[in-house]
Amino acid sequence: MKKLAIIGAGGMAAYHINGFRAGGAEVVAIADVNAEAAAKTAAQHGIGKSFGDVAEMFAAMPELDGVSIIVPNKFHAPLALQAMQAGKHVFCEKPPAISAAEMAELKETAEATGRTLMFNFNNRARPESYAMRGYVNDGTIGTINSCQAKWVRRAGIPGFGGWFTNKALSGGGPLIDLLHMIDLGMHFMGYPEPAHVIARTYHDHIDNKAFKGPWGIPDNAKGVMDVEAAAHGFVTFKTGQSMSFAISWAEMNEREECSCVFQGSKAGGSVRRLFGIDGLDDTAIDTCQLYTTENGLQVNRDIKVKLDETMGRERSAANFVKTLEGEEQPLNTPTEALALMQVIDAAYESATTGAPVAL
Ligand SMILES: NC(=O)c1ccc[n+]([C@@H]2O[C@H](COP(=O)([O-])OP(=O)(O)OC[C@H]3O[C@@H](n4cnc5c(N)ncnc54)[C@H](O)[C@@H]3O)[C@@H](O)[C@H]2O)c1
Repeated sequence: MKKLAIIGAGGMAAYHINGFRAGGAEVVAIADVNAEAAAKTAAQHGIGKSFGDVAEMFAAMPELDGVSIIVPNKFHAPLALQAMQAGKHVFCEKPPAISAAEMAELKETAEATGRTLMFNFNNRARPESYAMRGYVNDGTIGTINSCQAKWVRRAGIPGFGGWFTNKALSGGGPLIDLLHMIDLGMHFMGYPEPAHVIARTYHDHIDNKAFKGPWGIPDNAKGVMDVEAAAHGFVTFKTGQSMSFAISWAEMNEREECSCVFQGSKAGGSVRRLFGIDGLDDTAIDTCQLYTTENGLQVNRDIKVKLDETMGRERSAANFVKTLEGEEQPLNTPTEALALMQVIDAAYESATTGAPVAL
């Protein structure tokens, strides 16, 4: 049974703990720079040890097989490097890093140390996504030519002046925070190599409290607010495939929508979540559909799957454990994470210069 530890006792830790246990691992420790938070989460979840320092945890617990990294984005890459260099496998929250250069170093280190490095692209682990991948793999869909990746919110800024809105700590606003649907679209498309990216970012409403989400981290009146509120762009791939994306925390949309819609050579499809009108998960409507032609007629098929209230978060963490045990294939790889970060970097560069970026 693998022995795993959690780094970061914030809002997401519970999903990782539950997912690791469901996957068959033992969660033996938790570390957080805030030692009190680590101790509290350890007590809540029946975890034996807690630490206020990650290096101290590695020194005290040589038996650890791997860690989960669930901290503000800026610390993902340094902690993942530290863990792999200490011989630990790594499951890291998204985004993989705050730049493609950092992600390239992570990939090289995973290869050099022979450690498993995976990221929490939990939307790939949703039942809808597993179902859709079945139709991609069995040839029903054919080649996906085009895809529309969308995660738009109306009022969903995750706190004002905290780490999310500080570019130095987060790497950016919604484009890097809600990169899930770009990832999911590329996943369905076979993770083609990106060729060109053109994008624009917008900053309207980013300092307007009326656009705050119904969740998130506490506001900090003295904190920094230097990220975008919305990003729109277009990606072409070396295979000839293409993708448009629309991603926002604060924008004049009807309501929050998270969707990946695509058009294949044989069938189209969509995986879509319309969030509750209150912006919350528990009143959301999830759909998964195939668009085909049968007997000369246009047919839309509803794919029915089990409801997953964690939006794949626990299943994704369980896949990390099952990958370590050799029971499942990893849901994502460092090569894919690098291509994704290249798209994100290029989108920010294009938004700054106004010109398309060739990769
Ligand atoms: N996949 C998803 O659905 C999803 C949803 C929300 C957040 N996230 C990701 O999870 C990560 C954490 O988000 P959160 O909402 O839990 O944040 P949070 O601010 O609630 O918690 C972060 C925790 O990390 C600790 N921390 C900060 N720096 C640290 C360091 N260097 N070493 C150890 N601990 C440190 C903090 O003390 C805090 O307890 C982010 O990367 C975010 O993008 C993912």
